[in-house]
Amino acid sequence: MALTIPDICSLFDVKGGRMYSGEPVTQLEHALQTAQLAESSGADAALIVAALLHDLGYLLNDRGDTPTARGIDDVHQYVAIPFLRPLFGDGVLEPIRLHVDAKRYLCATRPDYYAALSADSKRSLALQGGTYAPVEAERFIAQPGAARAVSLRLWDDAAKTAGRATGPLAHFVVVMQAATRDRA
Ligand SMILES: [Fe+2]
Ligand SMILES: [Fe+2]
Repeated sequence: MALTIPDICSLFDVKGGRMYSGEPVTQLEHALQTAQLAESSGADAALIVAALLHDLGYLLNDRGDTPTARGIDDVHQYVAIPFLRPLFGDGVLEPIRLHVDAKRYLCATRPDYYAALSADSKRSLALQGGTYAPVEAERFIAQPGAARAVSLRLWDDAAKTAGRATGPLAHFVVVMQAATRDRA
């Protein structure tokens, strides 16, 4: 149940051309745009890798097109974790694991955040448990890795632009190799 970096590249090669449900980008474009936003914001290697791989669960656990429209929460934030744990430390894994809960947190703490979500993201929010109550939001942000997950979430939300130029996957392979070496 372990992936190598070449395995991850193969997954993107084979399945990354699929459209990201409800958005005008492919899975690979979304991954690259998220990683590039992290990198240009000065994130460390682990957080850039988390940004690149945050939705890898979609590619590992194929639920078909727009599962939220069929009332399915695919729990994609958890699916990739056991496959990635042999490669990366918590600096990569925790922001991935928490990136859906970070949306619930942002809906609770930023008044304009919910209104700006895409239709599919609003639909999935309901399936994922909805906006946090204030006490839940406080509990969430107190967790190690939660603030990094919130940063990831904001790049994630901004990474759905059709046709935006990014660096190639090969560029982020080097960052993955660095994050593997730094594994805590
Ligand atoms: Fe996601
Ligand atoms: Fe995403």
